[in-house]
Amino acid sequence: MEIIIQPTYAGLTEVAAEIIRDALLKKPSLVLGLATGSTPIGVYEALVQMHQTEGLDFSGVTTFNLDEYVGIPSDHSYSYHTFMETHLFNLINIPSENCHIPQSTAVGHAEFCERYEAAIVAAGGIDIQVLGIGKDGHIGFNEPSSSLGSRTRIKTLTRRTREANAPHFGGTVDAVPKMAITMGVGTIMEAKQCLLLAGGESKAEAIANAAEGPITAEVPASVLQMHPQTVAVLDEAAASQLKRIDYYKEVYANKLELLAQEG
Ligand code: GLP
Repeated sequence: MEIIIQPTYAGLTEVAAEIIRDALLKKPSLVLGLATGSTPIGVYEALVQMHQTEGLDFSGVTTFNLDEYVGIPSDHSYSYHTFMETHLFNLINIPSENCHIPQSTAVGHAEFCERYEAAIVAAGGIDIQVLGIGKDGHIGFNEPSSSLGSRTRIKTLTRRTREANAPHFGGTVDAVPKMAITMGVGTIMEAKQCLLLAGGESKAEAIANAAEGPITAEVPASVLQMHPQTVAVLDEAAASQLKRIDYYKEVYANKLELLAQEG
């Protein structure tokens, strides 16, 4: 896993947005896997700014979101559909038919999940999957103990995840849905590149477990150690429990030096 440590959250968002911009400039029909939560918001803001100021073109982009709550309508103010429209889709020139988000009110969830997987394959697979991380190491809504080979399906959320998301539901844990549809860990692992983002000290333990701990279903993000192209972009606080901080910084400095030499 490549680990890039930036001094602040602002630096993290800049590096992550640049990775996405560079990929989009190389491939205008980029397929992006997207995440919700507070962590990627700054990255989406940076992409919107690139669209507005540099004309970064999203007209050929296709997106697949990781997850959505079950039991609330898509237009609910705290749904991930609303989140994505507010923070990204309504602010860039992406055709709405190119944006895919698991459907929380789908009748026949199993068929929906199969169709979602098939749509990812039909689009040519995900080029870059943006990921946040839960404090317990979950990715998407793949809670600890999720099969590391799992596919898109319904998951029951842990109490801890519901508590963490309660601020988005008026502060009441009982208002947070009990279940979600999420891409599986196996689905995520098929993305060509994973871009794991984490900021703040509350994520430090999860990041240390994910990057340097044993690969275990107890920490679903740890399976990313098996992914050939995962880049974790962290701020100092989220990186603070890593054992090899100095080495990761040296690796990144050397990479930048090489890139500069190559022009
Ligand atoms: C939820 C989402 C995850 C996200 C996590 C962390 O559980 N399903 O995709 O990574 O929250 O969110 P935040 O970035 O707000 O800490």
